[in-house]
Amino acid sequence: MGDSCEKKKKKNKTEWKNPKKYKPEEEQPKNPTNGSNANSTAKRKRKEVAIFGNYRNYYGYRIGKDLEEDPRLKVMKKEWFQGKDCLDIGCNSGVITIQIAQKFSCNSILGIDIDGDRVEDAKWTLRKFVRTSKKKSATDKSTAGEEGNQPDNLVTKSQSESSRCDSECSTTSAGRDLFDMVSFEKGNFVRNWSSPANKLYHTIVCLSVTKWIHLNWGDDGLITLFSKVWKLLQPGGVFIVEPQPWTSYSKNRLVSEAATENYQNIEIGPGDFQEILLDKIGFRRVEHINPSLSKGKAGFNRPILAFWK
Ligand SMILES: C[S@@+](CC[C@H](N)C(=O)[O-])C[C@H]1O[C@@H](n2cnc3c(N)ncnc32)[C@H](O)[C@@H]1O
Repeated sequence: MGDSCEKKKKKNKTEWKNPKKYKPEEEQPKNPTNGSNANSTAKRKRKEVAIFGNYRNYYGYRIGKDLEEDPRLKVMKKEWFQGKDCLDIGCNSGVITIQIAQKFSCNSILGIDIDGDRVEDAKWTLRKFVRTSKKKSATDKSTAGEEGNQPDNLVTKSQSESSRCDSECSTTSAGRDLFDMVSFEKGNFVRNWSSPANKLYHTIVCLSVTKWIHLNWGDDGLITLFSKVWKLLQPGGVFIVEPQPWTSYSKNRLVSEAATENYQNIEIGPGDFQEILLDKIGFRRVEHINPSLSKGKAGFNRPILAFWK
């Protein structure tokens, strides 16, 4: 009994820590287009393969169609964002970027993504978000009387929320216009992206992106990510990262030849990230945020870590 419990614990640790020891039984050939895998690879190619995790409609299946609040926001703290200049690396279609801006009233937040289509989606999401809020505001004004309750959840509780908007509901609780606060830009963070006018940020967010950078650019890409984040942060700034577990890498290792090759050679596991960020990159301290989020929602029970420069 005790023994099997011990084994389970070790396996969990291994899943996070030691990529080399946790390879699946059958290793795939380096070039998946050759040999007996050719047919299945051809089929995969016909489907849209999100080699960077640049899924279309990512939030459609993660959150729901109606732009409910992302559950990860529930564990994030206002002081990380309020009045701050923020950067969201790998913003996809911008839902969490916009929700952070609205819920916590950032001074500014820039979402960047390697995929130009996702950046266009994000701009569209922002317009839709503002439109929807305005409509709700108008509806509320015609029906509301003495609304007193003002919850923090700006999307799921949008009926109550919209009543706190002034004339236009593209504003946040701080009265700022979302269009002035939120922007999106295409860029590969680990290769060619540089911050506009060498701006530094108070807060940098990187949620469910490390695996994709790791698979596409290997251990070097990951270290570039961490050191670039460090350089872009103001002293005292915070880096919020949600790494995917090592076990989830194997599912995506065939998305491209580069990913297949990098997967074979990765030596740093997600369980090593904390040590690297503290001991090698130079962050002062870390806080583990225990999401205790609904297990029903795919991917929402991953640990989130906050590192202070
Ligand atoms: C799985 S999605 C996560 C979206 C969002 N951060 C979240 O957690 O809701 C990963 C996103 O990272 C982007 N991405 C991957 N590599 C990137 C890179 N090197 N630079 C910028 N964006 C990248 C992908 O295009 C994709 O939209």
